[in-house]
Amino acid sequence: MDAPVPETAAPPTRDRCATGIQGLDDILGGGIPRGNMILVSGSVGTGKTTLTLEFLVRGAERGEKSLFLSVTEASDKLIQNLSTFEFFRTDLVTSGSLVFVDVPVIYDRLGLDREEMTAEDLDLLVLTIQGLVTELGVKRVVLDSLTSVCYRIRKEERIRDFMLKLSQTLSALDCTTLLVSEVAQSPGRLSLYGVEEAIVDGVILLGNTRRQGDIIRVLQVIKMRGTSHSRAQYVIELTPIGMLMAPHLKGGHQEGG
Ligand SMILES: Nc1ncnc2c1ncn2[C@@H]1O[C@H](COP(=O)(O)OP(=O)(O)O)[C@@H](O)[C@H]1O
Ligand SMILES: [Mg+2]
Repeated sequence: MDAPVPETAAPPTRDRCATGIQGLDDILGGGIPRGNMILVSGSVGTGKTTLTLEFLVRGAERGEKSLFLSVTEASDKLIQNLSTFEFFRTDLVTSGSLVFVDVPVIYDRLGLDREEMTAEDLDLLVLTIQGLVTELGVKRVVLDSLTSVCYRIRKEERIRDFMLKLSQTLSALDCTTLLVSEVAQSPGRLSLYGVEEAIVDGVILLGNTRRQGDIIRVLQVIKMRGTSHSRAQYVIELTPIGMLMAPHLKGGHQEGG
C-alpha cells in the first residue's frame, strides 16, 4: 500500500461521477473518478446492460447528457424492452438528455464493411464518437459492447491502440465511460482478449453465485484507479426501480468468479 503522504502534498481529489446506484457509489467513495473509462464485465444475463443504462438514466436526471452506443441490440427494441423498468424514463430520451445510437448505423455511414477493421477504420470510429460527444455535449458514455467491436478488431495491439485513443479522447472531453465486456463465466476472466482490463481505469465484475440452492446475482469492484475500495462481493437485485445492493453474507458455496 501507499505510504502516508504529508497533507500539503496530497493530490486534489478528483471529482466523482456518481453512478446513481447507491450501494455502488458507497463502495466507490461517491462514484467513478470523472473522465475515467471502466469495464463492466460479466457473462450473459448478469445485468451489464441494465446497470450501464441506469448509470446513464441517473446522469441524465442530474443534467448530464448521456449516450448509449448500442452494438448488439437495435436501440428501438432495447427501449421497448426497458419500458418495464420504472427507473427508465422515456421522457429523457424524448428530450434528448439520453441519446441512443446504433453502432452498425455508424459502420454503414462510414463504409466500415470490412470484416476485420483496419487501424484507419478504428481512427474513423473514434473520431465519429468524439464528434457525437462534442456535438451533443455528452458527459456519460456506454458502449454495449466493447466485445462485439473487438470481434472485428482481432489483433491485441490494435485493440490496445483503439482503447487508448478512445480513453484519451473521452477523458479530454470530461466524459465518464462504461465499456461492456461479455465473457463466459470462468474464474478470473474479465474480457475477450485479456488486454482490455489492463487499459481501463476500473473493472466492475457481475456474476452469478449459488447460495443455499438459489442462484443469486453478485457484483464486485475488481479495480478502480484513484479509489480505495472494497473488493468484496455484493448481492445485487435488478428491480423495476433500479439496482439494489447488499453485502454478500456467505451462506453457501461460491461458483465462478
Ligand atoms: N425490461 C426488463 N424488465 C425486467 N427485468 C429485466 C428486463 N430486462 C432484463 N431484465 C432482467 O435483467 C437480467 C439481466 O439483463 P441484462 O442487463 O440485459 O443482462 P446482460 O446485459 O448482462 O446480458 C435479465 O436476465 C432479466 O432477468
Ligand atoms: Mg446486455
